[in-house]
Amino acid sequence: MLNEMNRQVMKRLNIDSNKHRLVDLGCGMGATMRYALKQFKNLITYGVTLSEFQLKQGNELLRGKNGIILKENYNETSFQSDTFDSAVAIESFCHSGHDKKSIQEAFRILKPKGKLVIADAFLKKDNSQLCFGSHFAYQKLCNHWSLEKLEQIHKYEQLLKDVGFKDVSIENISLRVAPSVLHVPFAIIGFALQKIRTTKSLKRESLHNLKGSFYALLSGLHMKSFGYYIITATK
Ligand SMILES: C[S@@+](CC[C@H](N)C(=O)[O-])C[C@H]1O[C@@H](n2cnc3c(N)ncnc32)[C@H](O)[C@@H]1O
Repeated sequence: MLNEMNRQVMKRLNIDSNKHRLVDLGCGMGATMRYALKQFKNLITYGVTLSEFQLKQGNELLRGKNGIILKENYNETSFQSDTFDSAVAIESFCHSGHDKKSIQEAFRILKPKGKLVIADAFLKKDNSQLCFGSHFAYQKLCNHWSLEKLEQIHKYEQLLKDVGFKDVSIENISLRVAPSVLHVPFAIIGFALQKIRTTKSLKRESLHNLKGSFYALLSGLHMKSFGYYIITATK
């Protein structure tokens, strides 16, 4: 399912056979970068993350490949303007509350005609209009996964246009990611049991994070309030 998400994101970048610089803004351990490098031989990939652990492990996994992970804030990177042919942000801009700063920085570092593809969850209505159940799931989700907030999707579309992006396409793919969300309870139980069997304990942080997955499922069930989207925009 992760590979399929990477495939869908890459497809929207329309990468041709010329030399191509790709940046992953909030790259985790670089799985998307490694996927992209396998598919396209003409790529040079950069990833940014705030996590020291991801930086070390990710660069180890990228050893000998055309990619590097840097410890940088995607809201304020040290890259020169007009550097990249494309940028991706998969479930990462939500950690800065879908702030305008993140897309402004993506816009700055992209070359003219460069593409940005974002895959993330968004609100379908204003926070103040959420029903009790949606509001509860939303608060818990933000707390457990350290999300500042999720933006309302139409406001975000406008934000992208205000920053200067053109051809902004918003695709609601909630039903496509639903099977992945539905297997969350089984994955949580399996992971927790395996951890307890191998290490005889479950760290507080892991438990906190696992509860976040449960609230992601709960949010996903409120389909009138939350949606999962792939956004494509051109500089
Ligand atoms: C949920 S993970 C997603 C990782 C990866 N994109 C994926 O789909 O597997 C969120 C990532 O965003 C990164 N992140 C969060 N805030 C960031 C920031 N301000 N600057 C750079 N990276 C950030 C985290 O370090 C983490 O790597």
